[in-house]
Amino acid sequence: MHLIDKIKSKAKSNLQTVVLPESYDERMLFAAEKIVGQGLARIVMLGNPEKVGESASAKGVNLQGVQIVDPVTSEKLDSYIEKLVEIRKSKGLSPEDARKLLTAPDNLYFAGMMVRMGDAGGCVAGATSTTGNVLRAAIQTIGTSPGIKTVSSFFIMITRDPKFGEDGIVLFADCAVNPNPDSQALAEIAVATARNCKSFLDVDARVAMLSFSTKGSASHPDVEKVTKALEIAKQIDPNLQIDGELQADAALIPSIGAKKAPGSTVAGKANVIVFPDLDAGNIGYKLTERIGGAEAIGPVIQGLAKPVNDLSRGCSVEDIVSVAAITAVQAQG
Ligand code: ACO
Repeated sequence: MHLIDKIKSKAKSNLQTVVLPESYDERMLFAAEKIVGQGLARIVMLGNPEKVGESASAKGVNLQGVQIVDPVTSEKLDSYIEKLVEIRKSKGLSPEDARKLLTAPDNLYFAGMMVRMGDAGGCVAGATSTTGNVLRAAIQTIGTSPGIKTVSSFFIMITRDPKFGEDGIVLFADCAVNPNPDSQALAEIAVATARNCKSFLDVDARVAMLSFSTKGSASHPDVEKVTKALEIAKQIDPNLQIDGELQADAALIPSIGAKKAPGSTVAGKANVIVFPDLDAGNIGYKLTERIGGAEAIGPVIQGLAKPVNDLSRGCSVEDIVSVAAITAVQAQG
């Protein structure tokens, strides 16, 4: 069974509510119909119900079973304003500015507050909003999980060769959020991705901290950043199977791992790889996808106290359905 189908089955087994703030995009309407039709999640769409309803009818979309909430007239608006002012007290957010954020046309802050307050389990956005706007709203409304300061992301890369990772699947992190993570952030990215390896693939992670050096073959401040991250990750989770610094070939290919990092329990068989920065991660996953022919599922956002996932603005209806299923599984906890 394809991994996405397994994720969909998991979503169906314990139904969660997912909020879709971008209801004025027709792909969202079609996706909402499919998500509810397939029983993957309960759906709340944000916007003026009349406008959303008209747009759905014009496209022949059946929104039966989809709840439509208008942030501007919502009975929750005042309590959300009060809570957002409290959360953003240190930044001096006024009630007037909170109201503006919560009734802004992109609906991102209202969706974030719904998730924070438990009125939805998770949120999927990004069909019309940029990654930066989706993440900023999520960070400022929901915040990070206890013990984690860094919001990050991972891709599930389904390669064509079962020799790699876990039967051909490797988690790549962070390829979408942190341009220049320091050692602490890199360590948190490693720990969070390892936990997601367990929850999405049902196997223990073997984490490789990638570098252009393997086990001291080069010395440079960028290498030190990675070795320091390794030590911090071990402190955060002493049971984690993690090693570094490793070059990508030493991480993924057993014969090279054995030669360059003898005795390592991770080298040659990593199922999670952590890139040293966003240049490496973003370029790495796109090359693996485009030249290597791997399928990329993600980015899945991690580190938030509750799930919000970001879509590419070029996403298809099927992408939205898949990301909603992933979000629903994250919302199951
Ligand atoms: N984790 C936790 N908190 C964070 C993070 C993070 N990774 N990044 C920023 N913050 C916090 C800041 O501390 C700040 O909090 P505050 O408002 O309480 O002070 C708030 O978020 C906003 O901070 P800014 O510095 O204004 O954040 P910025 O505008 O840089 O946006 C963002 C943060 C969105 C995560 C940014 O790092 C970003 O845009 N990353 C790149 C996204 C991107 O373009 N990715 C590539 C494309 S995706 C793809 O190809 C699949």
